[in-house]
Amino acid sequence: MFRRITEPDAETVIIRFEGERLKVAAHETVAAAVLATNPEFTRTTPISGEKRAPYCLMGTCFECLMEIDGEPNRQACMMIVTDGMVVKRQTGKREMPE
Ligand code: FES
Repeated sequence: MFRRITEPDAETVIIRFEGERLKVAAHETVAAAVLATNPEFTRTTPISGEKRAPYCLMGTCFECLMEIDGEPNRQACMMIVTDGMVVKRQTGKREMPE
């Protein structure tokens, strides 16, 4: 569904999604980087466990909530990747760290 268009001389960073090493353009959002891998889903809903993935990519639907660098409930479409970032699917309801 999604295809990554790479600029040959674009700066890249390395992130991990569910343990998989991804080399992505430094200006991409986390959601765009993960969607380019064609994941089946990026989170499950708290009540039914339904599988979801980023939808609006502009910060309004909250379908892109993921665990990023150990912090749950992060809007992946609103965050730019950084080198060494660790991204995981979010399962159900997650508590916010204090
Ligand atoms: S994809 Fe809709 S808020 Fe992130």
